[in-house]
Amino acid sequence: MRAYEGAGARPSKGNSIAPSGTYELRKFVQQLETAGELERWRDPVSLRDVARMIESSEKAILFERVRGCHLPLLANTMASRRRWALAFDVPEDQLLDELRRRMGRLIPPVRVADGPVREVLLVGDRADLTELPAYLQHEYDGAPYISAALDVSKHPETGCYNIGVRRLMLRGPRETGIDVVSPSDLRAYYRRARELGRRFEIAFVIGAHPLDYLATQMKVETDDEFEIMGGFRGESVPLVRCQTVDLEVPADAEVVLEGYLEGDWTEVEGPFGEYTGCYGAAHFNPVFRLTGIMRRRDAIFETATIGGARLHHTDTAVITALRTELLVWESVSRAVAEPRAVYCPPAATGLHHVRISLRVRDPGDGRNAVIAALGSNAEVKLAIAVDDDIDIYDDKVVEWAIATRYQADTDTVIIGGLRTFPLDPSLPPHEGSKVTTAKLGIDATRRWDKPAHVFAIPRPPFSDAPSRSVNERQCEDLEDVVQRMAATLVDGPRFVDWLTMFPTLHQADLVRALGVLRQRGLVRMDTEGRYWPVG
Ligand SMILES: Cc1cc2nc3c(=O)[nH]c(=O)nc-3n(C[C@H](O)[C@H](O)[C@H](O)COP(=O)(O)O)c2cc1C
Repeated sequence: MRAYEGAGARPSKGNSIAPSGTYELRKFVQQLETAGELERWRDPVSLRDVARMIESSEKAILFERVRGCHLPLLANTMASRRRWALAFDVPEDQLLDELRRRMGRLIPPVRVADGPVREVLLVGDRADLTELPAYLQHEYDGAPYISAALDVSKHPETGCYNIGVRRLMLRGPRETGIDVVSPSDLRAYYRRARELGRRFEIAFVIGAHPLDYLATQMKVETDDEFEIMGGFRGESVPLVRCQTVDLEVPADAEVVLEGYLEGDWTEVEGPFGEYTGCYGAAHFNPVFRLTGIMRRRDAIFETATIGGARLHHTDTAVITALRTELLVWESVSRAVAEPRAVYCPPAATGLHHVRISLRVRDPGDGRNAVIAALGSNAEVKLAIAVDDDIDIYDDKVVEWAIATRYQADTDTVIIGGLRTFPLDPSLPPHEGSKVTTAKLGIDATRRWDKPAHVFAIPRPPFSDAPSRSVNERQCEDLEDVVQRMAATLVDGPRFVDWLTMFPTLHQADLVRALGVLRQRGLVRMDTEGRYWPVG
């Protein structure tokens, strides 16, 4: 059972809803192709080359034929917000709202007797990991690893299902490492099983709809994490039994590995290219032993990218960024009255930087927002608060807001001694997880002791809609224009208001009429650019 980190009420638990077959990876691949988001390689490729090709592609990429392997290889499916918007079926700027909506419900799974994942059943020596197109993702990784392995296991005493994602570094046809160094439910469950002297069975789903992967990253109070996955899908996850272990897995998966974990944290595993974009040191870990494979006849083998020079389009950074946004939103929405949006740029790992836009109601709202983000359950190191006229998804606009609305001595928050992920290479030398981090908040919201117009963004006139100047023509009676303009002065118009009020006049005639009004001493302009009658 895990603590629910969400704000407000717990998600509501609904009844099961019959699966529609929508949430299959292969259907998502079709969606990507239709949207022009998929690059398809029909010629055979070598596993030596795929990492480079995947890193340099801005799209999802499908290698139909991989030399020496039976299955096609699919990459980058979750590595952009555009692809996530397709997965959620919403515009990109509504991703967070949609995620919050789907987090708000739990839908129990349904049990089915059979499913596509059981089309090919392999046990014993026939189950062989080397037939899968797992590849060396980074130059100095210890070995190729399976990266998109969605793990399914049960608590050894309660039998509650836990799901997560773990990397499996290949050691042979039926043995891999498993990275369970960081605190997690899986780590705790496995420790408990060892204390009880019980075998710890585990299954790994490789190849699932993006929503399934994202659901594994969420912390929600439930005794069956397939309910979170169901909530994300909006319908029950159909579960089938594994063949060699006492576990159930989604019947619509592409590939499932079955087996058990063995040993203490004694086997060297790694190094890996890590989520930080750098290498993480090798760790000591238990071992996974394979007992069976289930898969579709034409299964797609999915991989997830982690780390590297182009972090902004790795699957891990983009998935993690969505989770960070959710956690920061939950914290900030308790700290200020009108938060508008939260964006976590994946280029900064998807964990460490966050931007918040808000409508400042009261002095101090901006600082409240950054402090709430830094103190949230996410691992944010830099939080920037801006007003709601700033597009937080646009780096250039955010730079501008910092340049014009931020004073370092009064608008900076620095707090040391806070919790962190020990993998951050900028941390001082430390042992294990015994280290804390310093965090920075930048309040780039407008000063509240200056008038709003000082900070207004100059926009071209008629930005929202074209002017109604269809029949524009030269005026024949300038005196008439002078009189009509003079009559407007009581309302303090700006020049743009005259352009709107007199849609048939050329701008030149308005300037001429203004000249006449000035000559006659009838008009003055104030410091905000408004015209008023004199006297
Ligand atoms: C692609 C991907 C790979 C991941 N690999 C690992 C890993 O190897 N080890 C790990 O501890 N966490 C890894 N994570 C993070 C865990 O899946 C995540 O913390 C999860 O919520 C843990 O679930 P649990 O606490 O229910 O066990 C990975 C996440 C993603 C998206």
